[in-house]
Amino acid sequence: MADIITSKETLAQAIEKASVMPAPRDVLMANPKYFSVDYVINPHMEGNIGKVNKKKALWQWEVIRDKFRLLGLRVHEMEGVPGFPDMVFTANQSLPFIDQKGQKHALMSIMHSEQRKEEVPYFEQWYRRHGYNVHYLDAAKIPGFEGMGDAIWHHRKQILWGGYGYRSSQLAYETVSEAFEVPIVMLELVHPAFYHLDTCFCVLNEKSVLIYPPAFTNDGLDLIHAAFPTVIEAPEKEAQELFACNACCPDGKNVIIQKGCHEVNKALKQNGFAFHEVDTGEFLKSGGSVFCMKLMLW
Ligand code: ARG
Repeated sequence: MADIITSKETLAQAIEKASVMPAPRDVLMANPKYFSVDYVINPHMEGNIGKVNKKKALWQWEVIRDKFRLLGLRVHEMEGVPGFPDMVFTANQSLPFIDQKGQKHALMSIMHSEQRKEEVPYFEQWYRRHGYNVHYLDAAKIPGFEGMGDAIWHHRKQILWGGYGYRSSQLAYETVSEAFEVPIVMLELVHPAFYHLDTCFCVLNEKSVLIYPPAFTNDGLDLIHAAFPTVIEAPEKEAQELFACNACCPDGKNVIIQKGCHEVNKALKQNGFAFHEVDTGEFLKSGGSVFCMKLMLW
């Protein structure tokens, strides 16, 4: 039975009860050899067709990869594939999971737009080669699900935050909850510039989260506040232009974030986090930054 959490009363209890999930030690990235903006499927891509500086994109990508390595994570590099300019955003094609027996699983996405649908099999192949159990959604029933772009694990707990509204359908989460036997906290997204949950919601550790409030409904904000005692709010400019909330905090202490998010960085520092600025300027043209350029797994 799907366990979908929609009220703050049941949420605190669910978090309390949720089993521990080991910290991810591995990261999957796809190199940006064929990255470009060739079409418009989100508002950030508008006006950017053909505007990517490929050399710059490669340097920026390498700096991020090396940051993950410096933080002690093992980076797996996947080759980019011609014809798939968005494949570099490896958060989107799947949702990985490790169960209580230590078995690894991955649920394959159903990409919302035609242009990205055929990226998914490359990830499926990768999972099969790495000993994962692969799961699927019923494409006849579910219009879309974009993996960790919208489905974000709570810090070290088997409880999932499920964003829906633009790319992922609410329906997908019933299957996710049943396949992985985990409770899911649903968050409706209501601002078109924040089309994935990872553009407006960044789990920092068990007590803290970084969000952009106007991307959520009041009910959603209530759930977020019920789960996290510390809610850092990104100002509009940093959230929308610099993708501040698309930062990544792999270890509960260090935050990798697009450079120039001064207000957010101040708040991060005040709350005991270290921030590491990187330039994702070429990828912002496509509507993505640090979080969506990687997939954390085990
Ligand atoms: N151009 C890509 C798209 O619109 C960007 C994806 C960014 N990914 C993310 N998880 N926010 O699909």
